[in-house]
Parts: sequence; C-alpha cells; structure tokens
Amino acid sequence: MTSSPATVTCEADGFSFDAEVGASLMVALKATGFAIEASCEGSLACGTCHVWLRDDWSSRLPAPDEDERAMLASLPGATPASRLSCQIRVTPDIAGLALDIPR
Ligand code: FES
Repeated sequence: MTSSPATVTCEADGFSFDAEVGASLMVALKATGFAIEASCEGSLACGTCHVWLRDDWSSRLPAPDEDERAMLASLPGATPASRLSCQIRVTPDIAGLALDIPR
C-alpha cells in the first residue's frame, strides 16, 4: 500500500524546493526562504505573491477563480502564465511544478 507523500518537489527560479502537501504554494515558497512578499498572508488582497508558471503548468492546474483573475488583471507584468501562489494548494499532483518569481 502506498501512502500520499508529505511533500512534493517543485522548482522556483531554477532551484528545487520541497513543498508541504496541504499548504499553499505561497507558504511553501516563504518557508523555503524565497523572496516573495505575500503581504496579505494569502487573503487575496495584495498580489505580492505573484508568480509565473513555467511550461504547461497553467493548463494543468485548476483555473483561477474570478477574484484571483481580477487581482491578476491589476498587476503590472501579469501574463497568461501568472498566478497568485497563495491560491495554489500543494497536492501530490503538482510535483515537478516550475515557476519564476517576478523581481
Ligand atoms: S498573499 Fe496577498 S494575494 Fe496572495
């Protein structure tokens, strides 16, 4: 019998990191020490947890909801690959997810 992993390995700015399953991707990035501000702590009010997903990850994740889309539309530098990392839940399905953090 196999059990679900407690963490999955993802990649940000070319560096691998372990993300705890059940956390938000933003929390996992902060816990690893990546420079991501996330000033509203995940309440969808700041947009400072903005990331660009690499490869085809945008189409592999559940689509952003209306509130996330509205926040993304207000961000300079937003692209079709943009997401708010606080709105992405770490699950076993996102193992290997790769992203870049805007500077
Ligand atoms: S942490 Fe503020 S919108 Fe994600």
